[in-house]
Amino acid sequence: MRIVLVGPPGAGKGTQAAYLAKNLSIPHISTGDLFRANISQGTDLGKQARAYMDAGQLVPDEVTIAMAKDRMSQPDAVNGFLLDGFPRNVGQAEALDEMLKSEGVMLDAVLDLEVPEDEVVKRIAGRRICRNDSAHVFHVTYNPPKTEGVCDTCDGELYQRDDDTEETVRTRLEVYHTQTEPIIDYYRAQGLVVTISALGKVEDVTKRSMEALKKDRED
Ligand code: AP5
Repeated sequence: MRIVLVGPPGAGKGTQAAYLAKNLSIPHISTGDLFRANISQGTDLGKQARAYMDAGQLVPDEVTIAMAKDRMSQPDAVNGFLLDGFPRNVGQAEALDEMLKSEGVMLDAVLDLEVPEDEVVKRIAGRRICRNDSAHVFHVTYNPPKTEGVCDTCDGELYQRDDDTEETVRTRLEVYHTQTEPIIDYYRAQGLVVTISALGKVEDVTKRSMEALKKDRED
């Protein structure tokens, strides 16, 4: 399956993507995680992306699209993928369509996670991620690690992301409303959007997502 996950910052896209990708046996491709890995490795790409990320702005399309295409062309993504954080504006969605068309394949669904703004702010404020792997995500209240500050999965140090400050989160939400939300209408016109509430326990949201994707395939 080829799926796009969409939703505001802090909606739980990364958290859900980890479970959904495992259940569906497809790779989880997060452009945010790819940028963060480049930043921690000190690559030129990471240096280019950092200022935009710290400001809560989108990294320019030419950089992002090239990085996403490169990742999607790797062998593990040939038969499907779960995209998290890409595309993030209509230009990126058009570039993805072009890429898929050139390979004679299509998206199966766009899973839209709906969460009220006050909840995403709470989720972001308490988020802690692992220095070894930013896919290992915790929350100080909703999903606390067994030992404070230590990743349950790999014992890595947990930290708060640089772009999780109140001011940056406000900018990220605004960028989401103005630049990313329009892709929902773009994909709705293609009949691809499945919207679910992402409120409630993580496992309940995963169950709701799997059921919505299954129903979408049957329709
Ligand atoms: P990115 O890393 O994609 O950030 P984001 O979209 O803002 O999303 P988040 O990672 O903040 O949240 P999430 O929805 O994954 O939530 P999570 O699962 O962690 O992008 C960062 C930056 O990179 C962008 O601002 C931009 O600069 C750049 N970038 C990335 N992609 C780009 C692109 N395509 N183009 C241009 N620039 C790009 O959950 C949040 C918290 O809530 C966690 O603590 C979690 O434990 C908790 N939680 C999750 N689910 C639940 C639940 N059901 N109940 C209670 N708590 C929950």
